[in-house]
Amino acid sequence: MCELKKGGRGNPDTPVRRFLATDIMIIAKDIPSAVNEVNNLKKQGATIALVPTMGNLHEGHLTLVREAKKVADKVVVSVFVNPLQFNNAEDLKNYPRTLEQDLAKLEQEQVDLVFTPTPQTMYPNGMENQTSVFVPNISDMLEGKLRPGHFKGVSTVVNKLFNIVRPEFAMFGQKDFQQVAMLKQLVEDMAIQVKIITVPIVRDAEGLALSSRNGLLTETDKPKAHLLHAEISKLADKIRNGNRNFEKLKEDTREALDACGFKTDSVDIVDASTLGDITEKTVEAAILVSAYLGKPRLIDNEVVKL
Ligand code: PAF
Repeated sequence: MCELKKGGRGNPDTPVRRFLATDIMIIAKDIPSAVNEVNNLKKQGATIALVPTMGNLHEGHLTLVREAKKVADKVVVSVFVNPLQFNNAEDLKNYPRTLEQDLAKLEQEQVDLVFTPTPQTMYPNGMENQTSVFVPNISDMLEGKLRPGHFKGVSTVVNKLFNIVRPEFAMFGQKDFQQVAMLKQLVEDMAIQVKIITVPIVRDAEGLALSSRNGLLTETDKPKAHLLHAEISKLADKIRNGNRNFEKLKEDTREALDACGFKTDSVDIVDASTLGDITEKTVEAAILVSAYLGKPRLIDNEVVKL
């Protein structure tokens, strides 16, 4: 089932006219419609960039869309809160869902096609019967240890989205550092013909990495949220200045965040390319931090040249 976001510019069942009109955004709600619309784009010889999202779109997502426009002829955005990747029922229930506002923003960005499936559409046989894709090792380390099943849910849904949209490019934000590394491994291991493009973190004026979960911060916690990035930057500076006492640096950051009102979940300093321990071969270190501030769990990271 598909919808035209702007009315009056042709019948949704006449694909040629639809795609000649550049200001029309198609909304596909089920897999056959999305595949059909993608086929129409491909018949025109268009290259496609996919921006997978869980909605509640902010400037971070819109930056992905703008970067997508630079690399491909057509931009497809998926909006799907993927239940398979939530290891916490409360988090899934509270995840902000703002589809109408999201569609308005995407229309403003002149996105070509939006795919808005429901869980029933994506997992018609039930989540427990869904074939899954699992990237070993990387899915179980760091964030994967703290959120069991999370990365398996991500790799499964992204693989399915790749099969539906068959994009030449796929855009992901660097905020989800381990997610990008895991998806690059997925693409390599399964020979998926897509180029993953990583887009730098978009921050607000105070340095807070934009995230849909920021909207769940209370008025009291909001002014403190930027301290997460501030503490990561302090740690990054110490490493740049030659401090290699990683255990002490991690402990100090944890203490500093907890003292500011965070409940720190993890502070890791890893090799940015392997996500393993820093060795004498490490060129860049990645500082990866996750912390609760009230209910929402925020994540952020910074890469430092050694
Ligand atoms: O990063 C996200 O928003 C999600 O993990 C993704 C990639 C859209 C898969 O559901």
